[in-house]
Amino acid sequence: MTQPLPRSSREIRLVRQPHALPVPDDLAVFDVPLRALGAGEILVRNRYFLVFPGLRTLMGDETDGVPLPPLHAGDTLFGPAVGEVAAVGEGAAVELGDLVVHLEGWREFAVLGADGYAPAGGALPDPVAHLSTGSAAYGALTRLAPVRDGDTVFVSGAAGATGAMAGQIARLLGAGRVVGSTGSAAKAARLRKEFGFDAVVVRGTGPFTTLLAEAAPDGIDVVVDMVGGEQLTAAVAIARSGARIALLGALAGQLAADRAGGSSPAEIDSYRLVVRGITMRGYRGVDHPSVPAEWERQFGRWLREGTIRFPYEVVPGIDRAPSVLQEMIAGRHFGTVVVAP
Ligand SMILES: NC(=O)c1ccc[n+]([C@@H]2O[C@H](COP(=O)([O-])OP(=O)(O)OC[C@H]3O[C@@H](n4cnc5c(N)ncnc54)[C@H](OP(=O)(O)O)[C@@H]3O)[C@@H](O)[C@H]2O)c1
Repeated sequence: MTQPLPRSSREIRLVRQPHALPVPDDLAVFDVPLRALGAGEILVRNRYFLVFPGLRTLMGDETDGVPLPPLHAGDTLFGPAVGEVAAVGEGAAVELGDLVVHLEGWREFAVLGADGYAPAGGALPDPVAHLSTGSAAYGALTRLAPVRDGDTVFVSGAAGATGAMAGQIARLLGAGRVVGSTGSAAKAARLRKEFGFDAVVVRGTGPFTTLLAEAAPDGIDVVVDMVGGEQLTAAVAIARSGARIALLGALAGQLAADRAGGSSPAEIDSYRLVVRGITMRGYRGVDHPSVPAEWERQFGRWLREGTIRFPYEVVPGIDRAPSVLQEMIAGRHFGTVVVAP
């Protein structure tokens, strides 16, 4: 039986630019009418959308060079989503019930043109896996900072969406010792027990360079950096000869209440880079177009074999979405965070 289609869809809009970090009152739920589909368009019922730190940057004053459009008061939030085709316009290339991935999250329903979505395909056994940011970790560890057998790998922000995947991928690619960092002892314990980390530094519990040197007494060969700041300073300080540092994010600046979200200064001893022949490069998906398809095949295989775990938390109800953004920034969740509207 075909489900009756709704006349309207609820969505989350930014109602004012956040003063510091976003709070739930900066966002609101709006009920908006759904328009008729044009030729080739589809209506998608979103099943899950991703809650991610880049939104803080897009809402701030420092969006120069950021590869997504800034968010102003009145705009609907957006981001990776996975949903089911609920209606098709004339000539659309998918069928009712097909699963598609797209960038119009933060709403119950999305009207999408042919270039606005991709069929989910069958490579991944779990629809939420399409929202994993593990592709960036995999790209960093295969393109920018390749892991060699026995390497010591440091993953900063290891309990986050990307970090929890990065540590496991590093191990699967041959790392001998995997060290992480996180914001709480409870998350550190989970990383060690459930995700194979050998040691985890809890930020804020002492001088970071000292703590990292204790966790990696022989130094570090590969860094996947999600955080920047003092953690990057420390990683450079103890990096071994020939170390490879991949910069994926900069949570220390991006999620700092006293910054605008688009910058993250760190002090680095550049002479260490010279004398130890260390490479350091930022990871941008656009520079590595072959990664997503390769990652999807590999991720699907690892999930089916049970050699990788994909930690995520599903928060039901679009009404909860404004609070979940704040919770994600405050570190109250583990791994990937999605809303099921
Ligand atoms: N280059 C790329 O292609 C690419 C792709 C994906 C993501 N990224 C970037 O990579 C970074 C991680 O992204 P993600 O989606 O995996 O996010 P995430 O790590 O899941 O972000 C949420 C986590 O940030 C941590 N956090 C909050 N405030 C912090 C602070 N002041 N210092 C350090 N950590 C803090 C908290 O973890 P704890 O409780 O453990 O501290 C929180 O759980 C972001 O900068 C993101 O923009 C880049």
